[in-house]
Amino acid sequence: MTIDSTKDLFVSGLKHAYYTEKRLLDALEELEETSTNEKLRSGFAQHREETNVQIDRIEEVFDQLDVEAEAEEDPVVEGMIEAHEAFMSKDPSDEAIDRFNIAAGQQSEHYEIATYGNLIPMADQLGMDDAADTLEETLREEQDELDSLSEMGEEFDYGELSVSQ
Ligand SMILES: [Fe+2]
Repeated sequence: MTIDSTKDLFVSGLKHAYYTEKRLLDALEELEETSTNEKLRSGFAQHREETNVQIDRIEEVFDQLDVEAEAEEDPVVEGMIEAHEAFMSKDPSDEAIDRFNIAAGQQSEHYEIATYGNLIPMADQLGMDDAADTLEETLREEQDELDSLSEMGEEFDYGELSVSQ
């Protein structure tokens, strides 16, 4: 497929966002299951629910474009998932996992914020006001999730992590 118009670029970005959100459904489940801290676990579970809605929103936008919803593999999200697997293979302690998972969640939120932050002005450019509003709702959720994770990172109780060599 040639990409030489704003619409092509928008559709291409949407396919990557669709892939990313779907992969994050699994990734968020993994983050929840491997975390120990209750607040962190419930935060990941809640964001997983939001992610289901975000996937529906992307499908709505495909609909508005009259383009079939299709996911295109995104190497960035695959890389983040691989990084998590590599970390987990090093036999980390529960506290180390919690702290790593906060950072992993933040990384995915930064990536998604960049993604939606670019798709929204493209939707505006294409005169797709409804699509822009829909994607804006998702962007707000990603920002809220990032804020909440950042707060947990800043207030993290390092416990035994702070004294071990
Ligand atoms: Fe998302």
